Amino acid sequence: MDLGAGDFSDVEMMKKLGWQCEGVDLSIGTNLEENYFSPGAPFDFVCSNHVLHFLKNKKTLVESAYNNLKVGGIFFFQDLERSDLTTDMYFSEREMKQLIKEVGFKIIESHKSSFFDDKPDHMHWHDIIEIVAER
Ligand SMILES: C[S@@+](CC[C@H](N)C(=O)[O-])C[C@H]1O[C@@H](n2cnc3c(N)ncnc32)[C@H](O)[C@@H]1O
Repeated sequence: MDLGAGDFSDVEMMKKLGWQCEGVDLSIGTNLEENYFSPGAPFDFVCSNHVLHFLKNKKTLVESAYNNLKVGGIFFFQDLERSDLTTDMYFSEREMKQLIKEVGFKIIESHKSSFFDDKPDHMHWHDIIEIVAER
C-alpha cells in the first residue's frame, strides 16, 4: 500500500510485478491527516514517499502505516530532511526515527543520500532520509 501515492505510478509498477496493491492520496479523497484503515489490510508492505512534510499530524501517517501492516510487515519511508532550505514541516532523521519507534516499529535500516535539485529556481542540494522499519 502506498500512502500519498501521487500519480499512482509506483502502485501501477508494483501491480505489473504481480503485487496486489492499493494507493491512497488526497487527490482521490483520502486525507492522511486522519487515521486511514484499508478494507484490503493487512498488507505485507506499506510505503510513503515525500508526503510527511505536507502533514501537520505526522504521527497519524506513521500510525496508518502500522495499522495497515501485518505483524512482520515492512514500512518504507522516504522524505527530504529538514535543512536551512526547508521549513519546520520537515523532520530530521533523528526525529523521524524516534517517531517511527514511538508508534511501535523496529527500525531495520536508516540512511541518507543527497540529490541536486536542478529546477531553474532551485539549484541546490537536498538530503533525503530513507528508513525501513518492521511492524
Ligand atoms: C510530492 S508528492 C509524492 C507522490 C509520490 N509518493 C511520489 O513519491 O512520487 C506528495 C503527495 O502527497 C499528497 N498529499 C499531500 N497532503 C496530503 C494529505 N493530507 N492526505 C493525503 N495525501 C496528501 C499529495 O496529493 C501528493 O500526491
